[in-house]
Amino acid sequence: MDLFVVDGGRRLAGTVRASGSKNATLPIMAAALAVDGEVTLRNVPDLVDVRTLANLLQTLGAAVDRSEGRLTIDANDQSNSVADYELVRKMRASFCVLGPMLAKRGFACVSMPGGCNIGARPVDLHLKGLRALGAEITVERGYVIAKADRLRGTRVYLGGPLGSTVTGTCNVMTAASLAQGTTFIEAAACEPEVVDLGRFLIAAGAQIRGLGTPLIEIEGVEILSGTDYEVIPDRIEAATLMIAGAITGGAVRVENVDPTQLGAVLDKLAEAGVSLTIEANAITVGAGTKLMPIECTALPHPGIPTDVQAQFMAMLSIADGMSVVTDRVFPDRFMHASELIRMGAEIRREGATAVISGVPQLSGAAVMASDLRASAALVLAALAARGESVIRRIYHLDRGYERLEEKLNSLGAAIRRLPDGPGQLPESLQVDSLRRDDGHAVQPSDRRTQKSIANGPAEGKSAG
Ligand code: EPU
Repeated sequence: MDLFVVDGGRRLAGTVRASGSKNATLPIMAAALAVDGEVTLRNVPDLVDVRTLANLLQTLGAAVDRSEGRLTIDANDQSNSVADYELVRKMRASFCVLGPMLAKRGFACVSMPGGCNIGARPVDLHLKGLRALGAEITVERGYVIAKADRLRGTRVYLGGPLGSTVTGTCNVMTAASLAQGTTFIEAAACEPEVVDLGRFLIAAGAQIRGLGTPLIEIEGVEILSGTDYEVIPDRIEAATLMIAGAITGGAVRVENVDPTQLGAVLDKLAEAGVSLTIEANAITVGAGTKLMPIECTALPHPGIPTDVQAQFMAMLSIADGMSVVTDRVFPDRFMHASELIRMGAEIRREGATAVISGVPQLSGAAVMASDLRASAALVLAALAARGESVIRRIYHLDRGYERLEEKLNSLGAAIRRLPDGPGQLPESLQVDSLRRDDGHAVQPSDRRTQKSIANGPAEGKSAG
């Protein structure tokens, strides 16, 4: 396991390129199981999650080949349709293989994913949609077993108590592409990643209308054929890189980004005082931002993505006043708040809302990443903090950001990746070198507290 040592307080400057979208790539890879013939995907990010899903597809009979941003998948061999718990538990997006496999093979057995660090993550809407298409579904020994001779088009409402479902819409849309007749998905997710999957399916021969709206109409076809498709850029990574510019008061130009997919994020950044120059495929954050407090609420697209809520919170921790951040998609997605508090942030949580009183500066500390976007938020906070920070469990980060530290270092950040283990705490964070502001050594009575700061939270706590 690796950790990051971040020497904060440097203004970032320069140009950086966002990679292909993780959350578009994963459902498209899974949908390749529904295709006859070879699928070639371009602009595919090199991520742990992509490799995990590639492994799963291989166990399901697909030949997968990867070279420099290009992935080919040929799912000709259908000898195994059981998606093993050991692979699915590593990544929830594995559940996206259910719909494509069921539609193409008439049978799918996929381990039921559990909850995770960002909250409860049921799959009832996925199952509702596939049942509506005529699948017989049972849950046995932790596996979802789905069968159908041929799925039938239908009208299905996929809204849940917290809005639409992104991967649920992906599962049902892909399955409906091979169903007999027409399917209408109501309350469909409108996220650009769902649109991208739809465009991929259309390129493979599917007939889909209404992408990007809450009503998607799919006229089933007999066969989907091999195709060559370029995945959209990662809007969440782009937003993270923009916030890296803003939080350090630096000037950062992010390329390979579609600004039309980031409307709410750009609106809120501007409200927070960030100067933005927007071009067709690039966004530049201007230097010297004085951050202002804002209210922002994560909502399904076109609202603020829940996947940038944590990064916004890091940024607002040093805004000039009180901000309010609410997450209506994952109301418990606040594990990062307690780690930001360790860095000097003032955050109070009330249900699905966090109230953040901006402080003039954060201070470097040893912190622990709890999930992918929380890791990104801690990196951002560490970039802005005074002194050194250590961020542990960055394997979460590697699941969804391609070479993030290299990209940030190319902009002037100082991030070192080291193997985790005893003795990796920088001297500045070791208990004996912690000093009070007035220069006195830490008193013996303070040592217990300081030691827990230096060591980060107990293992069990953030495993949550
Ligand atoms: N929900 C249900 N029932 C369901 C499915 C979802 O109640 O059957 C609820 C969830 O509990 C949640 C809300 O609906 O409160 C939205 O969940 P959704 O299904 O849209 O999330 P997801 O498809 O599991 C994808 C992304 C997440 C992203 C969310 C929301 C992928 C692989 N994952 O997850 O990405 O946060 O949509 O936009 O696309 C990330 O990249 O860090 C990440 C977590």
